[in-house]
Amino acid sequence: MCGVIGYVGGKQAAPLMLDALEKLEYRGYDSSGIAVCGASGIQLAKRKGRLSVLRACTHDGADLPGCTGIGHTRWATHGEPSDVNAHPHLSRSGKVALVHNGIIENYAELREFLAERGYTFISDTDTEIAVQLIDYFYRGDPVHAVRETVNMLVGAFSLSIIFADYPDRMIAVRKDSPLVIGVGENENFIASDIPALLTHTRDIIRLGEYEMAVIDAHNIVVFDRFGEKVKKEIQHVTWDAGAAEKGGYPHFMLKEIMEEPEAIRNTVHPRIHTGDIELEIQHIPEAAFKTLDRIFIVACGSAYHVGVVGKGYIEKFARVPVTVELASEFRYNDPIITTRTLTVIISQSGETIDTLLALREAKARGSHILSIVNVVGSSIANESEDVLYTWAGPEIAVATTKAYSTQLTMLYLLALKLGALRGNVSPSEMETYIKVLEDLPAKIDGLLGERELLQRLAAKYFSSKDIFFIGRNLDYALALEGSLKLKEISYIHSEAYAAGELKHGTISLIEPGTLAVALCTYAPLLDKMVSNIREVKARGATVIALCQAGAQDVAAVADHVIEVPAGDWLVMPSLSIVPLQLFAYYMALAKGCDIDKPRNLAKSVTVE
Ligand code: AGP
Repeated sequence: MCGVIGYVGGKQAAPLMLDALEKLEYRGYDSSGIAVCGASGIQLAKRKGRLSVLRACTHDGADLPGCTGIGHTRWATHGEPSDVNAHPHLSRSGKVALVHNGIIENYAELREFLAERGYTFISDTDTEIAVQLIDYFYRGDPVHAVRETVNMLVGAFSLSIIFADYPDRMIAVRKDSPLVIGVGENENFIASDIPALLTHTRDIIRLGEYEMAVIDAHNIVVFDRFGEKVKKEIQHVTWDAGAAEKGGYPHFMLKEIMEEPEAIRNTVHPRIHTGDIELEIQHIPEAAFKTLDRIFIVACGSAYHVGVVGKGYIEKFARVPVTVELASEFRYNDPIITTRTLTVIISQSGETIDTLLALREAKARGSHILSIVNVVGSSIANESEDVLYTWAGPEIAVATTKAYSTQLTMLYLLALKLGALRGNVSPSEMETYIKVLEDLPAKIDGLLGERELLQRLAAKYFSSKDIFFIGRNLDYALALEGSLKLKEISYIHSEAYAAGELKHGTISLIEPGTLAVALCTYAPLLDKMVSNIREVKARGATVIALCQAGAQDVAAVADHVIEVPAGDWLVMPSLSIVPLQLFAYYMALAKGCDIDKPRNLAKSVTVE
């Protein structure tokens, strides 16, 4: 997720765009850049680091005179944060500049297509492919060149483009990644998100799928994907700046929960090709995966909880013993590691010091190191042998949601890949499992539309003092995360417990009025869970059960039922975590807690 801005009008574009990009830094901030069409053609400035670096090196934009321009703040997906990987990207001719938000999934094929036609590349990004493709098709007609290029792209993209031959206009086009046009007085704007526009205009046009806009200071002409002009409605935005940064949601946490379907699509789809999974593992040899004798998964907090779920996937498919360890413990446990050990490090920030030091310990003992990280170029990513990025985009809320969900799907992909490499997953089985995963975002979308029940349950139970999350197998693994989410943002004491273990002591804490959340999606143990629900109800507990749609036995014993779509056991955790995240959110909301910045917590714990 990146920040995009474009301007055409009577003012100097560069200073105006720098101010606008500041409103978009929450979308990405590892590098930034601007390009302006001036008397001497296109001028470009871009730098690694925060926007302040770009401001300083362009003297607040004064070094780039001109009234038409595009700008970008980057959240790296392909290509580490660097000056050369920052946007905008310039065509070989120097006559076209482009910024991009999204992921071009077929960039490798297109890079080859262009290389065969004499093109070379200076960056590691997928974006550079797009501007060189436009260069390839450009014969003096910008609209034609952009249309031909878009027809070759696969993936999610919103592109904003300027042409030196046409200094009075810019072109915008999108598919999957949002793009809005700001309608001004003798000036017009492009932005990936509304906050960038509000100081100039509240009148916007939202571009639709494959729609292309040709914009100058006085006109906005929109074409559909067939080149037909379309009439677009101008909407008037009433949000304040704060609400706009959150996409109109009251908190970043809710916005990020709502982004989960897109985050999963961005993480999964580029890694699925013709019924197989392709993971960007370049340094750990495939042979090593076939001879592994042990896998550690090492992480902290929610990332650790993802690992507990992932253990189930990997042991199911790879048939290699998996040990999940808290990073802060692992380092001091004298772990038994050989050169046939794989250590999977999971971290959203890529900077958690406990996890980074655990990585170094495992590496020092000879383990292969594969990390699953959300921040490109972070310390953990840089010190890993191979890294699989979750392309969830920046996660602002301290309580992780979309990063957790994308990490889960990444472990699912890794487990299937290992299973196939070790001969345990056949091509037909692979196709079946991939289909299950491809259907996941739409199912989550459906769940996100049913938030009312969670709001009602929160309104009823937000004054609870102790809440138990119980479950078995994958449901127990998930209970760990459901409990942490609730604790960290609502400050309500809670614990996750293996449902079969309650009777060995902890059930003494269950008394009339105790709230238990029973996770019952793991079908093979459903009967056991029904018994456990009866067990705690017999001691006075109130039970909220989370189960697959149609689980009548559960509905017959629980006080409340939250349903997820029935389906394959493997994606139940990815579905079930959504109502658990929403439950925690609404409980904290009902208590009036600071949801995005809970007390005592930091987004990335960089101290031991
Ligand atoms: C999750 O909601 C918490 N914010 C915390 O447990 C977090 O998961 C943990 O600190 C690990 O962070 P990381 O994924 O950035 O390494």
